[in-house]
This record gives sequence, structure tokens and C-alpha cells, in this order.
Amino acid sequence: MVNKIKTCVFISGNGSNLKSIIKSSRDCSFPIRIELIISNNIKAKGINFAKKFSIPYKFFSSKNKIQFERNCLFEIKKRKIKFLCLAGFKVILSKNFIRTFGQKIINIHPSLLPKYKGLNTHRRVLESNEKYSGCTVHFVTPALDSGKIILQKKVLINNNETENSLKKKILMQEHKLYPQSIISVFR
Ligand code: GRF
Repeated sequence: MVNKIKTCVFISGNGSNLKSIIKSSRDCSFPIRIELIISNNIKAKGINFAKKFSIPYKFFSSKNKIQFERNCLFEIKKRKIKFLCLAGFKVILSKNFIRTFGQKIINIHPSLLPKYKGLNTHRRVLESNEKYSGCTVHFVTPALDSGKIILQKKVLINNNETENSLKKKILMQEHKLYPQSIISVFR
């Protein structure tokens, strides 16, 4: 049994990556334990995984980002959380917030960074006739999708690929890559 790092996962949507992290974290040798899930979207489906696995969760509106971050920091400090995983979290955190945590925030992005940072990744990849795409887990820095890369997984793009099929194909890889990346951070 390892001394698990207390972790908070941030979500905004479906939470399929959250689910894969929760499942991995139930293994006694996995380096982190999820102590809190924060969503900025009250309708995020991912909140159901918090309920299902009895993990504490909070909803905070991100309309006022300063207040949102204040609320998050309060909960994080109260629970002595030391590591943050962004998983489909659609808020850009402030420089101050990110600096408070140093190399302690990681994110998953559905492209082979540094290519295709930002939104509408799959559409842009297909429009550019790329042969490959993939996903990347990286440290979060104030510059969007630009922090040091932890792990990447490449997928081949088929001739008849659509945005939706590519999204699904990459998500399947994301679910393996995120837990592997967490292991690699604490190795
Ligand atoms: C994933 O494709 C992730 O890379 C991106 O947002 C999506 C979130 O999916 N940042 P889910 O909420 O984990 O299902």
C-alpha cells in the first residue's frame, strides 16, 4: 500500500476520463487517491461518477473566475490536497492559481501537442489532412496547452474518419493514457 497523494479532479462534462482515473485509483499501488471532484457545470454528467463511487464533490460556478478559484482553493486546502488533475475541464485557470501549485496540475488534451492546442481539435486535424492524431497528458502552465509533456499516444486517421469517430478513437486511448501518466509523474 503506497502513501497516496490526495488529489482533486476538475471536470466540466461527461467525465469519462474521471471514471478511468477513479477505477485506476482503486488499485492499492496507484499513487493517488481522489479526495474531491470539482465541476464548474452543474449539469456535468461526470458528477454521477462522484456519486456512484462515493467521492466528495462540489459545484462552483466559474462565471466569476476569481470567486471560483477562491472556492476551489478553500476546499483544496481544507482537505490537504496536493495534486490536481484536469479532465475535460473547460475553464482556463489564472496564472496565480497555477503558480500556487507549481508542477502539481496536469491536463489531458486530445491532440499530439504541441500541435492543435485549444478548441475544435479534431475538426482542425481533419481539415489539415493529418495522417495521425492522438492525445497528450501534460503539466499545466499559464500558457494554454503548452506545459511539459508527460505522455502521448498516437492514433492513425482512416480515410473515412469523421470528427466523431476520431473523438471516440482518441477517447479510448485517453482512458489508458491518463492513469499511465499519473503513475509516471510519481515514479
Ligand atoms: C477529452 O477529449 C479531453 O481530452 C478533453 O475533453 C474531453 C473530455 O472528455 N480535454 P471526458 O469529460 O473525460 O469524457
